[in-house]
Amino acid sequence: MAQPTHPSSTASAPRHIAIIMDGNGRWAKQRSRPRTFGHGEGVEALRRTVEAAGDLGVRYLTVFGFSTENWRRPTEEVSALFDLLRLYVARDLDKLVKEGVRVRVIGERASLQSDIAQIIGNAEAKTRHNDKLNLIIAFNYGGQDEIARAAKKLAADVAANRVSTAEVNAESFARYLDTAEWPAPDMLIRTSGEYRLSNFMLWQAAYSELVFVDTLWPDFDKAALEAAIGEYNKRERRFGGTDPVVP
Ligand code: IPE
Ligand code: IPE
Ligand code: MG
Repeated sequence: MAQPTHPSSTASAPRHIAIIMDGNGRWAKQRSRPRTFGHGEGVEALRRTVEAAGDLGVRYLTVFGFSTENWRRPTEEVSALFDLLRLYVARDLDKLVKEGVRVRVIGERASLQSDIAQIIGNAEAKTRHNDKLNLIIAFNYGGQDEIARAAKKLAADVAANRVSTAEVNAESFARYLDTAEWPAPDMLIRTSGEYRLSNFMLWQAAYSELVFVDTLWPDFDKAALEAAIGEYNKRERRFGGTDPVVP
């Protein structure tokens, strides 16, 4: 009898992939260019990855674009990162609409400049009927901040007697997170050879398969995504039990 063939990456692409897109600064430094040059190339890598994820049948792609701690960077770099979000949406929104990509943005939004909040709202509204791939952009996002904001909303509901203390558990709490609507990431990739979460998806990554790659983000492409999926497919997920579980 023939051996079963290894499932193709398309057939076995995880439903939800989250990526910490790291290494733009080092990529630029290697080329003696300013860090912002690396961020610009990082946007190209994002465009390639969104397309590749769609091709591979991924349903949810969450990318870390700007953390609540990235405010510690020089003002010019922070402005450049905000400008790149503006540019990415201006350049790609029509294409995303046509290709069936639904855009959502998670993170703290109240303190963002009003034009950014408007750009985000517009991208979400224009793509709201799409359902091929959900592109979730974590912008001004921090896992601790997200959990604290969720706790605040929950506390307000308890204070107003809309929810009782007895009803609070992990499942009901998760409904207050920015990610309430989506399944947790099956795989979390971090590029650039750093082995930490840097405050990304602290709650949601509880059972994500972690894949760390040395590739610097501006070099990331479809082949790199397929390689990560190949690594994911070798993992056995147990979710605390004794037997493998295919979610
Ligand atoms: C990731 O690249 C992009 C953001 C954090 C916005 P970095 O800018 O962190 O690049 P490195 O880690 O300094 O190389
Ligand atoms: C995480 O990368 C944030 C993003 C990729 C947007 P950082 O480069 O900010 O993380 P640290 O500072 O190295 O932990
Ligand atoms: Mg970094």
